[in-house]
Amino acid sequence: MTNNRFDYSPMQGKNVLITGGLGFIGSNIAQRCVELGANVTILDACIEPYGWNFANISEVEQSVEFIKGDVRDRSLLKELIANKDVVFHMAAQVGREISIESPELDVEVNCTGTINVLEACRRNANGVKVVFAGSRGQIGEPITLPVDESHPQNPTDVYGINKMAAEQYLFLYNKIYDFPVVSLRLNNVYGPRCQMHAGFYGILNWFMANAMTGKPITVYGEGSQTRDYVYITDVVDAFLRTALSENANGQIYFVGSGVETVFLDMVKEIVRAVGKGEIKHVPFPKLRDKIDIKRFVVSYQKINADVGWEPQYDLRTGIDETVRFYSERLGDYLAKREVE
Ligand SMILES: NC(=O)c1ccc[n+]([C@@H]2O[C@H](COP(=O)([O-])OP(=O)(O)OC[C@H]3O[C@@H](n4cnc5c(N)ncnc54)[C@H](O)[C@@H]3O)[C@@H](O)[C@H]2O)c1
Repeated sequence: MTNNRFDYSPMQGKNVLITGGLGFIGSNIAQRCVELGANVTILDACIEPYGWNFANISEVEQSVEFIKGDVRDRSLLKELIANKDVVFHMAAQVGREISIESPELDVEVNCTGTINVLEACRRNANGVKVVFAGSRGQIGEPITLPVDESHPQNPTDVYGINKMAAEQYLFLYNKIYDFPVVSLRLNNVYGPRCQMHAGFYGILNWFMANAMTGKPITVYGEGSQTRDYVYITDVVDAFLRTALSENANGQIYFVGSGVETVFLDMVKEIVRAVGKGEIKHVPFPKLRDKIDIKRFVVSYQKINADVGWEPQYDLRTGIDETVRFYSERLGDYLAKREVE
């Protein structure tokens, strides 16, 4: 770990809205914003099979305002955004296969939901800043590695297409209406507060739960594909730095570890950290085979240059921290574990 200093104190007293704030990334942002003295409102529709979990905010529930509501509800958003300084827009349909099976749902939540956030911002015209969770899924199979912000976008699923469109709406509104926006294109995020009830996303945490509960870890094919795994604390740090930095306004950043990790090596790290786990290789399901990406790793040079961000956790340290968290809190996360 290196010590890259940043002054987070301006977060104190800020009025913050986190859409999807009961989920994995949103709840970790909420936790940190409360620690920094921000006034946090969480909007979450509590939709299955996504990562919402009241256990995610158990430490801060007395300090946050929770609104059960949907980003598809434009009038609710207008009301909620009225007095906000920052919106962390995390709410999303997050399943790649779901996006192909239910493209209309993905359009409604990921595209129209984002337009609703932007419409509420421009109608309130109070200079609120929107920090958006984009995705590596916007890129598809890379042409060159490491992927940076100039890499063309060629998504292999409906989710990636709608994240790409949502990001473009973000910058269109920025250009026309002048309120500040930032898009963070996230890689494979893992760590505490990720759901463990479904394996269709957040695969690292899902495998960890399987290892901890004595269920096989099912790896498609040889597990030779590569990914860029980034630890949640680092991701939260990227959201806060870009929210607080004026020179991040109007910018797109990749947020990743910069380390290309073979999928099977990630699995072996989990087995090491948990101390047990049976790895089982099975053929790729047909749809997954068609949309799977073979290699992925990003450069974080741009976000490093602009806001001084760099990852503080390597994969081994991050996995050890994650195992430590779930060793104490597994029950909170297995409760919803019937969906696959
Ligand atoms: N976790 C990752 O590896 C990763 C990678 C790339 C991008 N992202 C993006 O980061 C964001 C957060 O993802 P996450 O991993 O925390 O997922 P998550 O499922 O844990 O959180 C998403 C939250 O959004 C809520 N939600 C879903 N639809 C909603 C709606 N219509 N209205 C209001 N709330 C709704 C869900 O209930 C859930 O609590 C998403 O936008 C996702 O696309 C995540």
